[in-house]
Amino acid sequence: MAPRKHHILPLLSLFFLSRISWSDATPQKDYDKWLTWNVHNHHLRRLAAKPPPNAAAAGLSGSTPTTKALDVRLEKAEVNKERFIINQNGTGDYKTISEAIDNIPIHNTKRFILQIMPGVYREKIHIPKIKPFISFIGDPDNPPTITGNDTASSMSQGGGAALSTFQSATVAVDADYFIASNIIFENTAPHEVGTVGEQAVALRISGNKASFYESSFYGSQDTLYDHKGLHYFRNCFIQGSVDFIFGYGRSFYENCTLNSIAKKVASVTAQKRNEKSMSSGFSFKDCKVTGSGTVYLGRAWGDYSRVVYSFSFLDKLVLPLGWNNWGKSNRNSKVYYGEYKCSGPGSNVTGRVTWARALTDVEAEPFIGTYYVEGDSWLLSPST
Ligand SMILES: *[C@@H]1O[C@H](CO)[C@@H](O)[C@H](O)[C@H]1NC(C)=O
Ligand SMILES: *[C@@H]1O[C@H](CO)[C@@H](O)[C@H](O)[C@H]1NC(C)=O
Ligand SMILES: *[C@@H]1O[C@H](CO)[C@@H](O)[C@H](O)[C@H]1NC(C)=O
Ligand SMILES: *[C@@H]1O[C@H](CO)[C@@H](O)[C@H](O)[C@H]1NC(C)=O
Repeated sequence: MAPRKHHILPLLSLFFLSRISWSDATPQKDYDKWLTWNVHNHHLRRLAAKPPPNAAAAGLSGSTPTTKALDVRLEKAEVNKERFIINQNGTGDYKTISEAIDNIPIHNTKRFILQIMPGVYREKIHIPKIKPFISFIGDPDNPPTITGNDTASSMSQGGGAALSTFQSATVAVDADYFIASNIIFENTAPHEVGTVGEQAVALRISGNKASFYESSFYGSQDTLYDHKGLHYFRNCFIQGSVDFIFGYGRSFYENCTLNSIAKKVASVTAQKRNEKSMSSGFSFKDCKVTGSGTVYLGRAWGDYSRVVYSFSFLDKLVLPLGWNNWGKSNRNSKVYYGEYKCSGPGSNVTGRVTWARALTDVEAEPFIGTYYVEGDSWLLSPST
């Protein structure tokens, strides 16, 4: 599947243009300044990207110009690809995913496609920084499951210290240019409300320019550690109870389902932008927030936490307040929490915290395309 193009906002949207003013009293200076800068910056970058001459005529002003070339390293890596078949029944190249990764040369310059046959792989997988360009490709009709159950408080194998949240991941990716398609990432450790040390990550992605297609992430507390870098998730299913998408990645989630299994009050995201200079943030477009418990759309792990939901269906579990400052009111004027054209029973902004905002068309635009993660230079069709 080729990456989807974003078409200009339909005129119908004029109906929604009247901006909802959530508060006139709260100081919004930082927020306003940042918004203005972001809109301006977005336009400069769009101009710099030089759309094809007929783009305007074709009504493509709302879409990403596709003229920018791929990263040079990436382009080279895609020329000579190598494929490994992973099959537990012994008929492939390797029986485990870890063995296949061990047999990829360090500092490899070409893509290695790991075609993972159906099955449940109980493996703890780490892709080191020195092994970029790895793809995990599963069978769409019967995707493989990679499972584990480590938690932050599990003891490490050599004994001694407890693992941390960081080390609890079933699959941890430190390498750049990772791709997963039709893979189920899982951490089955349960989470009881009120206990500590039960953070249990299914996937940690710390590599830059990683993309995930038609993949699922199952866990409870802290399922998806969207740690750092530019990331893209499309048609994914992400399930958890508390802060189940967290980290300081700069990520674009498109057409994903965020499924809460919380028993009480929880937060879907905990975005950790903790310094003003960081360009990180989570943008959810055409997503669906659903499931059990009651949830905030986000709580501020970092002072400058940044999350936007656009065109998304917010089910009744979303709390009217919408957002949470993690008990620190100094964050109210620093975080960046926006909503744009969402629908569903949880999208009524009447009861929202005063420091969240309904975005206007121009304010939302920088967040609603793959350009948000500079996708032009690195997003590939997942089947390659
Ligand atoms: C091994 O798995 C493959 C693919 O799933 C299948 O086609 C093949 O028949 C299996 N072979 C054996 C010996 O089980
Ligand atoms: C994790 O899974 C192993 C193997 O299935 C099991 O023995 C162990 O009890 C599990 N631990 C937790 C904390 O669920
Ligand atoms: C969006 O996701 C749903 C599954 O939730 C899928 O059925 C649908 O095909 C996806 N849409 C696109 C455009 O890929
Ligand atoms: C939104 O919520 C407010 C307060 O609960 C309510 O008065 C209003 O009717 C709701 N609007 C819609 C469109 O449901």
